[in-house]
Amino acid sequence: MPEQDSPGLFIHSAAQLITPELLDRVSGPKLMLRIIPDGAVLIEDGQIASVGITEAVRRDGRAGAAVTLDASNCVIAPGFVDSHTHLVFAANRHEEYEMRIRGASYESIAALGGGIRNSVRRLRSVEEDELFEAARQRCTRFLEYGTTTIEAKSGYGLDLENELKILRIIARLNEDPEVSLEIIPTFLGAHEVPDEFRDHPTKYVDLICEQMLPRVTEDQLATFCDVFCEAGVFTVEQSRRILIAAQSFGLKLKIHADQLSHSGGARLAVELGAISADHLEHIKEDEVALLAESKVVATLLPGAAFHLGTNQFAPARRLLDAGALVALATDFNPGTSPTVSMQVILSIAGSSLWMTPSESFAAATLGGACALGCQHRMGSIQEGKQADLVIFEVNDYRLVPYHYGMNSVRAVIKKGQLLFDHQKRG
Ligand code: NIG
Ligand code: FE
Repeated sequence: MPEQDSPGLFIHSAAQLITPELLDRVSGPKLMLRIIPDGAVLIEDGQIASVGITEAVRRDGRAGAAVTLDASNCVIAPGFVDSHTHLVFAANRHEEYEMRIRGASYESIAALGGGIRNSVRRLRSVEEDELFEAARQRCTRFLEYGTTTIEAKSGYGLDLENELKILRIIARLNEDPEVSLEIIPTFLGAHEVPDEFRDHPTKYVDLICEQMLPRVTEDQLATFCDVFCEAGVFTVEQSRRILIAAQSFGLKLKIHADQLSHSGGARLAVELGAISADHLEHIKEDEVALLAESKVVATLLPGAAFHLGTNQFAPARRLLDAGALVALATDFNPGTSPTVSMQVILSIAGSSLWMTPSESFAAATLGGACALGCQHRMGSIQEGKQADLVIFEVNDYRLVPYHYGMNSVRAVIKKGQLLFDHQKRG
């Protein structure tokens, strides 16, 4: 926590300060990016105290007493809110990556016991402390790429002991004073049917509902419950049963929906009032309208289709134009999207989802915050919100997705604390 009487931080003279706003409208994009030239922000006690054009913020008496940071030729933006990650896993799956390049499909690898079940076997054999250390290092990588909050799912344990192990690691990361990344936990016991339940998947659903959910919620280890609703994984009926049980335990809902096939997940998300439906590569036109009319956030994860090479991307343009609230996230995981970089996701969103840089920045910040129910305290640079900011070393925000695969971050501020500033290092 920031100290009460610590001096404020006045970041000024940015070529642009960008901040999204939520619009109250029926059709057309729900988020709009405001661009303030010669922008500045004043931070006090970990929060945004003032934002606007440099001279206007400077005139605020409080700026004089603050530590200053010159952001000339740079862009100030809200920290990315990455609302869909699988942070805790034991090992990379680059062997499967090569198998896919040679022609095997993700589904055929999974059917042979690879994929998620490969990650499960590996995670079960690794001690909690070793997994914690690997996850801790990944948290640093997220911050280096400009992400200040992530959601993180369990889902590579698939038994009570190992699902709890993952969620405890997430709780420990949040408590660790050396980890500045904020992490919102999601229980994804329904990520796959584990090896020992292949012949009786209903028994695994029973286990989730009767043993895992009570324990996860009793120990207060998750905010959300997610299900991989997909052909060959969990049916709509099984997903509904798990999610209704989760709701009764007070968890909010997310769904991996219509990723590899038209599973009915998006429809189920609307039916159950989920906070988000994620992926959506295979939704139909009537489901675009359904999502647009609902409060469900359409979370797009184009890194997965990119890395899988399917070329089957979610209908982002139609969702945006129909008035859906769209978020972008990495889906960071060892199988389908091994990147922590929201910047590269913006690039893919431009080239494959036809989202403009202003749309993708808004979706990757305030959109992500909405997908986590955190839009009142993060996702935009607004007075009273948490001071979670990125300074990019470019003078136009469009250069961030334009320079694909590059890291344009100069500095990151989390809850008012300057975590690093590459410019200072010279
Ligand atoms: O979001 N679709 C399910 N879960 C991940 C993949 C996980 C894995 O392959 O390990 C996803 O793409
Ligand atoms: Fe995922």
